[in-house]
Amino acid sequence: MASLPLTEARRLYIGLMSGTSLDGVDGVLFDAQALAVTGHVHAPFSHALRDELLALNTPGDNELHRAALAANGVARAYADVVSQLLEATSTTRSQVAALGAHGQTVRHRPDGFDGYTTQLLNGALLAEQTHIDVVCDLRSRDVASGGQGAPLVPAFHRAVFGTGGQDGAVLNLGGISNLSLLFADGRTGGFDCGPANCLMDGWIARHRNLTFDADGAWAATGRVLPELLAALLAEPWFALPPPKSTGRDLFHLRWLDARLTPGLAAEDVQATLLELSARCVVDALKAQMPDVRTLIACGGGALNGRLMRRFAELLPGVAVQTSAEHGLPVDQVEAAAFAWLAHCFVTRQPGNLPAVTGAAGPRLLGALYPA
Ligand SMILES: Nc1ncnc2c1ncn2[C@@H]1O[C@H](COP(=O)(O)OP(=O)(O)O)[C@@H](O)[C@H]1O
Ligand SMILES: [Mg+2]
Repeated sequence: MASLPLTEARRLYIGLMSGTSLDGVDGVLFDAQALAVTGHVHAPFSHALRDELLALNTPGDNELHRAALAANGVARAYADVVSQLLEATSTTRSQVAALGAHGQTVRHRPDGFDGYTTQLLNGALLAEQTHIDVVCDLRSRDVASGGQGAPLVPAFHRAVFGTGGQDGAVLNLGGISNLSLLFADGRTGGFDCGPANCLMDGWIARHRNLTFDADGAWAATGRVLPELLAALLAEPWFALPPPKSTGRDLFHLRWLDARLTPGLAAEDVQATLLELSARCVVDALKAQMPDVRTLIACGGGALNGRLMRRFAELLPGVAVQTSAEHGLPVDQVEAAAFAWLAHCFVTRQPGNLPAVTGAAGPRLLGALYPA
């Protein structure tokens, strides 16, 4: 694959990310030469769009029509973030080479002959509204070549965080958690670990009508239930070797409900879910990178002090840090990665790592809706 030298491509990209937490859209203005974010906007989804996107994660009536309308809604939400970002950074749209737009995952079934992954986003509408090239549908080509289509961020983590000569890992704590393994010898690994925030968010929404458990404060009022934790960790998906990825297809409240016994205190369940979020990462990290020295956390879960403390306690001898300590605030990393993937597309460089996703080879990721 011929790659263009960086100087021939414009340097500025906008990354647009909305993850499984369904908390809204993070948009960043990203300089692909400096590998630096120069502006950030977060916008929550409207309640109606959030509810519909959540509902579309499960089979229901008239899905095609509803998915098309939701894809329009996501495009409008993304376009709004783009215009806020351009204004906040005094950037004109002609300065932006492309948008790297993730879309909203509503199905992730990458395995087998009929594997697919669906991120809702009307790319044509986004191009029409922003007048900027849109690179989207960034996961499907990897799935088409036999990969998981996820995680796509490890190559970006390698480029930005390096290793410092020791084995180090980058942990993204979104709705789902994923690890990037940056080995000192140059190998890069990565895989999804399990639920980070999606079950804790769902449980506190059901019992306390809050969207998330700030700092793990509610979990801190409960105690970890060993039998429930063991039942949750017995999920066979956790024992699968990489490459692997997951989503709300597997980890939803019905999955949790099926493992609960009568009479449990809600706060004890929350404490156990936080422990599950920590354990599924730590167990996999110890197995896959025994000599890990540094763990750099990002994503909204990195703002959960109690969860971060559990990582430090469960990983003695490992320096547990956040991406902010490396110059990239925790809520900007994923969006920056998708800006970087758009840059890979524009400069005709593969965005996937076959060793991570299991794809048959390096692939150019994304579909283009020209401005
Ligand atoms: N202060 C906080 N304390 C605990 N959890 C938080 C905090 N801030 C954000 N979160 C969690 O982070 C989630 C959003 O993280 P994000 O990285 O945007 O995930 P996604 O990529 O799935 O959208 C929220 O749903 C919430 O669960
Ligand atoms: Mg988010």
